Amino acid sequence: MSEVSAEAAALSSKGLSDLGYSDAELEKAASLIVRIKALKAEKNAVIPVHVYQRPEVIHGIADFVGDSYKLSKLCSESKAGTIVFCGVSFMAETAKILSPGKTVLLPAPEAGCSLSESITAADIRRVKARHPGAPVATYINTTAAVKAESDVIVTSANAGRILEKLYREHPKVIFLPDMLMGQNLAKQLGKIPGKDIILWKGTCIVHDSFDASSVSLYRQMYPGVRILAHSECSPGLVTVVDFVGGTGDMLRYVESTNAPYFMLVTECGLGELARTRFPDKRFLPMCRLCPYMKAVTLERVLSVLEKPARASVVEVDPKVAERARKSLERMFELAEGGK
Ligand code: 13P
Ligand code: SF4
Repeated sequence: MSEVSAEAAALSSKGLSDLGYSDAELEKAASLIVRIKALKAEKNAVIPVHVYQRPEVIHGIADFVGDSYKLSKLCSESKAGTIVFCGVSFMAETAKILSPGKTVLLPAPEAGCSLSESITAADIRRVKARHPGAPVATYINTTAAVKAESDVIVTSANAGRILEKLYREHPKVIFLPDMLMGQNLAKQLGKIPGKDIILWKGTCIVHDSFDASSVSLYRQMYPGVRILAHSECSPGLVTVVDFVGGTGDMLRYVESTNAPYFMLVTECGLGELARTRFPDKRFLPMCRLCPYMKAVTLERVLSVLEKPARASVVEVDPKVAERARKSLERMFELAEGGK
């Protein structure tokens, strides 16, 4: 069997045929994967992949797959000289902040995020001036300049835990830029928005597009269905589902729960990944594509490894990176047991 046919067979056995990929599509992906793997070895590169990426990227070339927290942690620990980040800009920037000596490449340099575009460093400075003494907990979906103005970074995997720790010492916390996640956190922690928790007006274009209107119909039609929503969804939806969390939490919930059906209310990539990881479980569709996440293709990964365009080489001003790194390191401390 040729190397390309072996890669195509591997993609099929990992569940891509069941997702609807044709043999021709698998062969095409496989021929790119063979070339990417050869160049990756030659350049001592590592490829972290976010769970919302395309299935052929996740199953074909990833060295590790995960949520924002897991990827930032693993990138900081990796020994590779080059990181080819299959995700969006704020994730690649985070990898560069944590590994300033490494070359970090972003196959789709235009892949932003509606949350990270919702706030600037000047905005955050103005908010801080209005609430002196209140610590700033900033969602990881932000630029390096915004992280540099923050006290601690949080992700969907640890926001509740970290805010709880901040409230032990402070009556008021600034949480930004995700307003919906902030409202969910306020409810969870018994805090009043505008008084105990200061929020910003950013939202994720994917998760902000879901609402609670069809939940009861799904429950009628599919008795026993477990509905999971990402914590970037609106409070109206979050209060009527069975589980709320980040993408890593959602996958763990599916793995450890017996139910006749699951519905993952989030970006479509997570449902596809769940279908390949848990082929014996049944999933109902309720998802939306993130145009930023889906901008990464195998062709663009190959091209960035062959000859990166200047825009694909991630650079962060060292002074900004130094301050941003402190707030990321504070996250690692607080998320993993520190006070
Ligand atoms: P997590 O994978 O960390 O839950 O984040 C979701 C997301 O929207 C990243 O862009
Ligand atoms: Fe940003 Fe939402 Fe896309 Fe994640 S899914 S990258 S939060 S726009």
